[in-house]
Amino acid sequence: MNNENKYDLIVIGGGPGGYVASIRAAQLGLKVLCIEKRKTFGGTCLNVGCIPSKTLLHSSHLFEQSKKLSSFGINISGEVLLDLEKMMQNKYNAIDKLTSGIAGLFKKNKVEHEIGEGKFLNKNMIEVNNKKFTSDKVLIATGSEPTTIPNINIDEDNIVSSTGALDFKKVPEKLAVIGGGYIGLELGSVWNRLGSEVTVLEFTDALVPSMDLDVAKIFHNTLEKQGIKFLLSTKVENAKIKNGNVELEYVDLKKDSIKKYSFNKVLVAVGRKPYLKNLGLENTNIEVNNNGTIKVDKNFETSTSGIYAIGDVIDGPMLAHKAFSEGHVFAENILGKYPEVNYNCIPAVVYTEPEVAWVGPTEKDLIKNNTPYKKGIFPFSANARGKTTGETIGSIKFLSHKKNDKIIAVHIIGAHAGELIGQAVAAIEAGLCSEDIALICHAHPTLSESMKEAASLSFSGKTLHF
Ligand code: NAI
Repeated sequence: MNNENKYDLIVIGGGPGGYVASIRAAQLGLKVLCIEKRKTFGGTCLNVGCIPSKTLLHSSHLFEQSKKLSSFGINISGEVLLDLEKMMQNKYNAIDKLTSGIAGLFKKNKVEHEIGEGKFLNKNMIEVNNKKFTSDKVLIATGSEPTTIPNINIDEDNIVSSTGALDFKKVPEKLAVIGGGYIGLELGSVWNRLGSEVTVLEFTDALVPSMDLDVAKIFHNTLEKQGIKFLLSTKVENAKIKNGNVELEYVDLKKDSIKKYSFNKVLVAVGRKPYLKNLGLENTNIEVNNNGTIKVDKNFETSTSGIYAIGDVIDGPMLAHKAFSEGHVFAENILGKYPEVNYNCIPAVVYTEPEVAWVGPTEKDLIKNNTPYKKGIFPFSANARGKTTGETIGSIKFLSHKKNDKIIAVHIIGAHAGELIGQAVAAIEAGLCSEDIALICHAHPTLSESMKEAASLSFSGKTLHF
């Protein structure tokens, strides 16, 4: 074996987990090869996930807002028109800038790469593009792919995954969204704003099952007011293409009755599963859990020594920032430093309008685990900045420990919740109490003052502006 083909670390997958691990390991002095099967780096997140969806969420929000400008005293003569092609082009521009940015970072940090599908020949040897590379350390960061429902075949034309729903060439008149989770509600919001009649069919009796119930109720009502229809406790069982449309067959679980309805397009958003195809795992001794994730120890090492895994292929929330953290910590760990990912401190954000963001357990979880807690809820309708911008929907819910006042969780629904949650993440990570946040000086007028008010309510039951 040629020494040129020997690396200190080979990373399979150039998404948020893999590219961060590659860059950090190279910064720490390792000779790193990153193998990626897409033509561009960034994985699902940059190419067909977070970045394109956030671009469309922003553009569609502007489209929606522009119709309401008269309420701010701004009158535009003529109709506000949609240029979907231009909107999509902006999305491609954002993707291009960010994916090529990673290629630039690889160059800057001397991370070598191969574009192709990497496969284990044995635990230290990877084949890609008919070339063989060796390393004592290999990291699997191959991400995830959409799951579907038995009897429903995603063709990315009539029946689409998130990838197809990010790329509709025209606004579907009637769009069904199967699954009221992150993807369903974000992409359902995009197409609802652009003019589709959107129906979300969700198996459970609430939206986003992992969300705090108080928040989920406000969320449901708000999205319904925006025009999205919801069929909860509904199990979709079948989809048939008829005359270019899709006939969905679903069970109303409360009435135990079967119904059929026709839609122009159907988005299947019922979760994702680890992507381990063609990886040659049979040539290693890696153990896979029943749910399809790779078994790892706290240092991300699999059951085969020298092979590691991070991101969507291991247990935990399938979130880009969870993979970022794991990639960073992994690289530090293999060089003998031992930071840890604090899994109690991973924020979740749904980028709808209003946004929903949280960190820590739900109130229901605390009750279930007999954790004594105090709570404070502050509505944005009582926040001065919200009044000035018209962003008064929603609230911040603070949950702190009854005995020592330590902050346990924060649940936010409201404008910019995804930005506001950062303060809560830092506070929990630092082990702060609700009194600490209640006494910190927050700039006025800002939405972040609501954090101080909710913390104050959680600490003492009282606050100044409510
Ligand atoms: P999800 O797990 O968030 O939601 C799937 C929903 O589908 C669940 O509510 C489930 O009850 C429902 N469901 C399952 N089978 C069904 C059936 N037969 N009929 C009706 N409903 C059914 O999964 P989603 O939205 O596909 O997202 C996948 C992953 O991508 C998530 O794990 C999420 O973490 C990640 N993601 C994160 C985003 C963010 O951070 N903002 C944005 C998009 C995706």
